[in-house]
Amino acid sequence: MSQEQNHKIREELIRYYDGTERVVTVVDEEVPYPDGKLIVSRTDTKGFITHANQAFVDMSGYTREELIGANHNILRHPDMPAIAFKGLWDTVEKGEKWQGFVKKLT
Ligand SMILES: Cc1cc2nc3c(=O)[nH]c(=O)nc-3n(C[C@H](O)[C@H](O)[C@H](O)COP(=O)(O)O)c2cc1C
Repeated sequence: MSQEQNHKIREELIRYYDGTERVVTVVDEEVPYPDGKLIVSRTDTKGFITHANQAFVDMSGYTREELIGANHNILRHPDMPAIAFKGLWDTVEKGEKWQGFVKKLT
């Protein structure tokens, strides 16, 4: 069986912090981080994207127009539990810097 056939494609329901929901398709295929590139995005205080560099746009699979104004949760992976983001929000709301690993969709 080829590597490709081994990937289990599944649909999963994500429930966001604001109560809205979305079904996402997960293919379980890791996209390698692009060598020598920095993926940069900026959001407002509510998590809405205000800037994305080209590497971020390319990695996301969306167009820049789709990303700007969208909440960062557009890329949330269903393997990331909601509680994982509580620390992020609590920290940035205090004006402090948060650092962590986040698994994302592309
Ligand atoms: C200032 C700010 C920056 C954020 N940056 C990121 C980020 O770089 N990556 C990320 O996965 N989530 C980021 N988030 C969190 C998302 O907006 C969102 O909370 C997360 O994807 C979980 O979705 P949910 O809160 O709608 O459930 C950021 C939030 C804020 C307030």
